[in-house]
Amino acid sequence: MKASAIVYTSTTGFTAQYAALLSHQTGLPLCRLEEGDKLPRNIPVLYLGWLRAGRVVGLKKARNRLAVAGVCAVGLDSAADLDKLRQGNHLEHIPLFFLRGGYDPARVRGVDKLMMAAMERILSGKSDPRSRAALEAVRRGANWVSQAQLEPVLDWLAG
Ligand SMILES: Cc1cc2nc3c(=O)[nH]c(=O)nc-3n(C[C@H](O)[C@H](O)[C@H](O)COP(=O)(O)O)c2cc1C
Repeated sequence: MKASAIVYTSTTGFTAQYAALLSHQTGLPLCRLEEGDKLPRNIPVLYLGWLRAGRVVGLKKARNRLAVAGVCAVGLDSAADLDKLRQGNHLEHIPLFFLRGGYDPARVRGVDKLMMAAMERILSGKSDPRSRAALEAVRRGANWVSQAQLEPVLDWLAG
């Protein structure tokens, strides 16, 4: 196994669903980042965080404390640009996977809600399929969590 634990950050639950599926299927212990202090320092982990304006939430904190061996970025995008994500999150030497999570407008609050209201205005002026899909999700909510998306992650973990 490439990792000894699965550590994650989730605000509205989609990343938590993926983390729980992975833990269930690999037998690896599951831990929220806030509880990461309970893990031995520098233990190799697979870190899952949700995407917020292109950044993997919690990744910096995870890397400060744990040996992040692989990263799953969870977002609503239908065609995430992995190279851009890798660059923006300083992941040049760490395996990165994108998992399409979902969007739950009822659970998004505070500054996040304001940011998404601005995003909705921008998206509503666009007509390409990727923007239309994102706009639909932002307005109505969506859940794309699926086992199939985890297969490359499971292959990497076992490899
Ligand atoms: C403020 C904000 C910014 C977001 N930025 C992105 C983004 O840059 N790319 C993306 O694919 N999804 C983005 N999303 C969507 C979330 O990453 C998505 O809803 C994710 O599944 C949330 O995970 P969680 O349920 O584990 O919190 C954003 C959501 C919010 C609220």
